[in-house]
Amino acid sequence: MRLQKYLAHGGVASRRKCEDLILQGRVSVNGEKVHELGTKVEPGDRVFFDGQEIFLKEEKVYYLLNKPPGYVTTTKDEKNRRTVLDLIKTQTRVYPVGRLDQDTTGLLLLTNDGDLTFAMTHPSHEINKCYRVLVQGEVEEASFESLKKGISFHGESFSPAQVERIRYKKGQTQFDLTIHEGKNHQVKKMCQAIGHSVKKLHRLSVGSLTLDGLKIGDYRQLTPGELRELQKLYD
Ligand code: URA
Repeated sequence: MRLQKYLAHGGVASRRKCEDLILQGRVSVNGEKVHELGTKVEPGDRVFFDGQEIFLKEEKVYYLLNKPPGYVTTTKDEKNRRTVLDLIKTQTRVYPVGRLDQDTTGLLLLTNDGDLTFAMTHPSHEINKCYRVLVQGEVEEASFESLKKGISFHGESFSPAQVERIRYKKGQTQFDLTIHEGKNHQVKKMCQAIGHSVKKLHRLSVGSLTLDGLKIGDYRQLTPGELRELQKLYD
């Protein structure tokens, strides 16, 4: 990359202004003052402006994935399983915001924006996450009431949840469960607590984000409007 472009991407000034700064002798690369505008910067080179080191600002990217089953949400897997990163074609290093189990499908946000990740996963923000759950057996009304009041499983307690759109079909029960915590295997544990095992789990929404027509395995970038809505969490 040319030096003036590096400086501009590092947030020093516009590319044109950076050319002036180079000509003024205020820029050095690897300890040597540079006056030529064509100078190339290679990876690993250290660039200084007025004695201060300049780092490239990485562009922030935000992808919304409809996660298919069979992918883990860790970025590297020691058992060599497929990870959600295998699905996103990007040169930028992104990572998932929160976790979904390997067999869980649905909405997963991936980004390189650490501030947004922190804000979205911080318990104090209580961001709603809505899951469509299919469990074995017919769930009784009293069990749904327990989920709505808050429930414990093996000493771990879960806050009150919302239950909607209950449907009974062929010895199984489907319902939408909205929780705001993000504890490990939370929905499965909550269902275990009422005596039902989860057959299918699909995340429909996280806060204001929905999949809205995105097919399983597909992904798209967040719209500016969606991003603005999420950034309200920490602005
Ligand atoms: N709760 C679970 O049990 N699994 C998930 O993947 C997400 C929430």
